[in-house]
Amino acid sequence: MAMSPPGNAILYNALLRPGAKTARPSFIFNMSPGKTIEEIAQSARRELGAASDEAVLEAWRIAHLGRKASLTIFLRSLAELAPEERRKAGADANRLKAELEEAFAEKRSQLQAARIERTVETGRIDVTLPGRPVRLGRLHPITQTLREILAAFESQGFSVVEGPEVELDYYNFEALRIPKEHPARELMDTFYIDRADESDGRLLLRTHTSPNQVRFMEKHQPPIRIVVPGKTYRNEATDPTHEWMITQVEVLAVDEGITLAHLKGTLFEFAKRIFGRERKIRFRCDYFPFVEPGVDMAIDCFLCGGGGCRTCKNEGWIEILGAGMVHPEILTNMGYDTNIYTGFAAGLGVERIAMLRHGVDDIRHFYANDLRFLRQF
Ligand code: DAH
Repeated sequence: MAMSPPGNAILYNALLRPGAKTARPSFIFNMSPGKTIEEIAQSARRELGAASDEAVLEAWRIAHLGRKASLTIFLRSLAELAPEERRKAGADANRLKAELEEAFAEKRSQLQAARIERTVETGRIDVTLPGRPVRLGRLHPITQTLREILAAFESQGFSVVEGPEVELDYYNFEALRIPKEHPARELMDTFYIDRADESDGRLLLRTHTSPNQVRFMEKHQPPIRIVVPGKTYRNEATDPTHEWMITQVEVLAVDEGITLAHLKGTLFEFAKRIFGRERKIRFRCDYFPFVEPGVDMAIDCFLCGGGGCRTCKNEGWIEILGAGMVHPEILTNMGYDTNIYTGFAAGLGVERIAMLRHGVDDIRHFYANDLRFLRQF
C-alpha cells in the first residue's frame, strides 16, 4: 500500500533535523502545540479506518506506533521541553498513543474474524470435523516405579531425603571404605570433574546413592530410617542392561538393636508390595565394602514361578538388590557407639525393577524419548 507521509511532516523534519535541538521546542510548541498532535492523530485515524487487510494493518502499525513513527519520536523528544510544555504535550501524546493502540487491537481482531469467516465460507475449513483429542500427559515409567518403591518404605516408617549428584570422592568412595586402588572402584567406572583446586579431593558424578548414608549420619543421631532416591552415573558402554545414568534408591536404618532380621523383614515387605504378596525371597552372601555381612536379595521369578524362563535366565530367581549390616567401622567414624547402635543398608536400581515389572527388554528405551514406548505406561 502507498503510505502517505507521516502525519506531520513539519514536526517530523524538525525533530530529525540535526542541530535543531534548541530551536525545536519553541518552533513546534509555541506556534501550534495542539495542532501537531492533532495532525498526527487525524492521519493515523484516517489510515486505520481505510486498512482493509492484515498486511496493510501491520504497515500501519509500523508507520504510526513503530520505533520510527512520528508519535514515538515525539514522545522520545519530550525530555527536551521545558517542564510546563512537557506536561501538556506529554499528556496529549500519551493519550493519543493509548487511543491508537486500542483502535489497532480492535481493528486487528475485526480483520482476523473476517479472514476466518471467509475461510470457512469458501469451504477451506470443515467446521463439522470432530476435533483432535488432546492427549493427557503422564508420569514417566521410572517416576511411577520410583514412587511406588518409596511408598513401600514410607509405609514402614522411612522418610525420603536427597543428596547431591555431583559428589566428593570422599563420600562416594573413601568414607564407604573404598580406598584408592580398591577393586570396587573399577566396577564403578567414574565420571570425574576437572577443577583447578582439588585440595578437598576430586569431584565426580556419584556412582551410587550410598554416599548419602554418610552424609545423613554425619548430621543426625539414631534412630535413623531414610530412603534416598536419585540419579547415579557410570561411564558405561550402553547395552540392553546398561545405561550411563540410572536411578537408585538407598535404604538406611540405624537404631538400638537392629539385626539382620529387621533387614530381611523390611526388604521382604518391600518386595511383596512391588512384585506381589505371593513372592518368595532368597538371601545370599555378597560383598560390598561398606556392609558386613553383605547380602544380595533375590525374588522367585514371578513369570515362571521358579521353573526357569528367559526373564530369570533359567535360574528361577531374580536378583533385585544389594544390602547388608552397616559396617561397624563406618558407625564408629560417625561417632556412634557400636555397643548400642547397629544398622542395615540396601541399594536398588529402579530401572531394573521397572524392566522386570513391565517386561521391558532394553533399558535404553526409558531414555530414548520415544512416545510410542512411553505412552504404554
Ligand atoms: N551401592 C551399591 C551399588 O551401587 C548397592 C548397595 C549394596 C547399596 C549394598 C547398599 C548395600 O546400601 O548395603 O552397587
